This record gives sequence, C-alpha cells and structure tokens, in this order.
Amino acid sequence: MSTGEAQRPVRWGILGAAKIATIVGRAIHNARGSQLAAIASRNLARARDWIADHTVGAPAVADRQPFLPPAAEVIPRGSYLELLQDPHIDAVYIPLPPALHCEWTCRAAEHGKHVLCEKPLALSLDEARRMADACRQSGRQLMDGVMWHHHPRTAAMKSVLESGELGPLRHVTSAFSFNALAKLQPDDIRFQHGMGGGVLGDVGWYCVTAALWAFGELPERVYATARYDRGVDISLNAILWFRGERSASFNCGFDAVWRKWLEVAGSQGTLVCDDFVNPWDAAKARFWVHGSQGQGTQHAHGGCIQEVRMIEDFGDIVRSGRLDPHWPAVALATQTVVDAIAESARQEKVVEVRAV
Ligand SMILES: NC(=O)c1ccc[n+]([C@@H]2O[C@H](COP(=O)([O-])OP(=O)(O)OC[C@H]3O[C@@H](n4cnc5c(N)ncnc54)[C@H](OP(=O)(O)O)[C@@H]3O)[C@@H](O)[C@H]2O)c1
Repeated sequence: MSTGEAQRPVRWGILGAAKIATIVGRAIHNARGSQLAAIASRNLARARDWIADHTVGAPAVADRQPFLPPAAEVIPRGSYLELLQDPHIDAVYIPLPPALHCEWTCRAAEHGKHVLCEKPLALSLDEARRMADACRQSGRQLMDGVMWHHHPRTAAMKSVLESGELGPLRHVTSAFSFNALAKLQPDDIRFQHGMGGGVLGDVGWYCVTAALWAFGELPERVYATARYDRGVDISLNAILWFRGERSASFNCGFDAVWRKWLEVAGSQGTLVCDDFVNPWDAAKARFWVHGSQGQGTQHAHGGCIQEVRMIEDFGDIVRSGRLDPHWPAVALATQTVVDAIAESARQEKVVEVRAV
C-alpha cells in the first residue's frame, strides 16, 4: 500500500472455499482495518454459494454462522488466478491443501499480494524458502496462519518465562490431537499424502512452534516415531534436544481426543496452559504458574478472538509499508524442525537440525 492509501482497509481475497475459510473469513470481516473483498474457488458456483451461505439470513449450521451483511460486496471468482489478477486486492489468505501452498503463495507474491498462508507452510524447507524469497522479492509480507502467536495471553506467558520466576527453563512438553479418524471423511486432505496430509504438518506444527517459542532457538537434534495409516502419519511422538541440556517433547495424533496443552518446566516452577493453541472458551483464556511445592497461580486473559488479532496484526504490517521479517523467520524455523522430525520418524534415527 502506498503512504496515501495507508488509512483505507486492507482488501482481502481468499483462495479456496475451505472449511477454515469460515472462521478466518469472519475474522477478516470483524478485524479493524480489513475488508473481505473476494473469494475464489476452482468452481465459480462454489464461490457464489460460499458468499450466500455466509450472508446474514442464510441458515446457520454447525460450524457456520452467517456474518456477512447482505450489502457486503464480496466478489466471487471462478479461479484462484482470476482473484490474483484483481488489482484491488491487497492481501490473500491461502487455506489450500499444503501441497498447493508453495505454488499459490509464489503466484500471489508475483501478482503483488501480501500472503497469509495456512500451516503447514510448505511440504519442505526448500519450498518454504521459495515462498519467503518470492514474497521478499516482491516486497510483500508472508505469515503463516498460526493464530496462538497473536493472542495477548501468549505474550503474557512469554513474560513469565523471561521473568526468571520458573528458574532456568529445562523442558517443554506439549500435545495436540483430535480424533480425525472418527470425525473426518476418508477423503479429507489430512489423509491424502499427495495433498500434504499427515498429523505432523497438520497439528504437530503447533507443538514445534511451542518449543521454538519457549526456547527462542532451533534444537540441535531430534528423534521421532510415527504410526502410519492411509499413507500418512496419524500419530507421532517427538523429542527435541536444545543447547544447554534443555529438551522438548510432544505427542500429536489423529487418533486421540481433542488435546492442545503445553507445559514449560524450569528448575523452580512450571507454566501450564491447557489450551495454548486456542482457548477452550475465548472469554476465559487462562494459564497457571506452579511453584516447587505445588502452589499455583491462575492468570486470566479473556475477551480476545485470536484469529481477529492475527488479521489485525497482518493488516498493521501491510498498512505500515514495512515488512516484518519476524513472521517468515518463525515459519521457516518451524518448517526446518518439522522436516527434521519427519525424516527422523521415517528413518527411525536421530537427525541433526541444520540452521535455516
Ligand atoms: N490455522 C488453523 O486454525 C487451521 C484450522 C484448520 C485448517 N487449517 C489449515 O488450512 C488448510 C485447509 O484446511 P481445511 O480443513 O479448511 O481444508 P478443506 O476444507 O479441505 O479446504 C481446502 C480447499 O482447497 C481447495 N482445493 C484446491 N485443490 C484441492 C484439491 N486437489 N483437493 C482438495 N481441496 C482443494 C478447495 O477449495 P475450492 O474447491 O473452493 O477451490 C478446498 O475447499 C490446511 O493447510 C490446514 O492445515 C488451519
């Protein structure tokens, strides 16, 4: 955006009428300084239907409460390229299957769009680097769709870690699972190897972000074991070793009930969050700090819809005209570790992590 345009809303386009596009589309609509301007589908009728289904007056169904006012001018597009060719679009949100993230992020950057791309960012670090390079060379922002980084609770937890209250940090443990095997259709993208499916990229990505966030650096080496079914990893356990005799471990799965918790242990206390990825109740985001004798303090942070905060953070960068290298760096670091964990699980051996 030019300096003169910095006051107008960021105009967003969505590539793909994905399930998650409902939540993020609503966030774009509700975020300060953002406007949902277009949605593209491979099929024009699906884009039109998406707009109709999300317009107030349409019936609400399980995961879809309509939010667009009838007067909203959201343009349906019958191809992703057609949306990218619209000069009025500033930024795109890409909720496509992971195997398509690299192609469409690079094409979006070439068309001058800022890119918020869903996780896992890419299928490999090589792809992720190409995406980051394409955005940087076009002077456009790249960010992955990890929402918890944007919740104010995350900054509050980080302050505790940095305060020294827990003593030197020793171990990060986390888990993220949901019963995808029972809940999702067999043809869901998560079960399609060719689409970049698999549990590590789908939800293990968050556990890796947690360890990197807590320790602020890459591990030196990793080890993982996975269970494979339907051609993808459906359950995975990983250990990450960091400098200074620190470590992290996590479990992620498509085979267990919904879990999304985190514990950071120091020599004198622990920080525990039972829903770090997304608060169970958006009005009651909490975490606990426990001392060496089990005494605990609850910290409460209510009233934030983290996906709205993510869109606002992204919009602030776009309007500022100054790219924020922090976000592509975080995504590339995550991809580096995810790649090493995937390799370890496949080869059943410890893998050294090479710097980004
Ligand atoms: N950040 C989060 O909290 C969060 C939550 C859930 C999912 N995600 C991520 O968001 C992305 C999408 O997940 P989702 O569950 O929403 O996926 P989904 O419902 O399957 O949607 C994917 C969309 O991609 C498009 N597409 C293009 N080529 C396709 C192909 N060959 N097969 C299937 N779809 C194709 C389709 O849109 P058209 O047919 O309209 O073109 C489809 O609706 C994934 O990367 C996932 O990890 C993130």
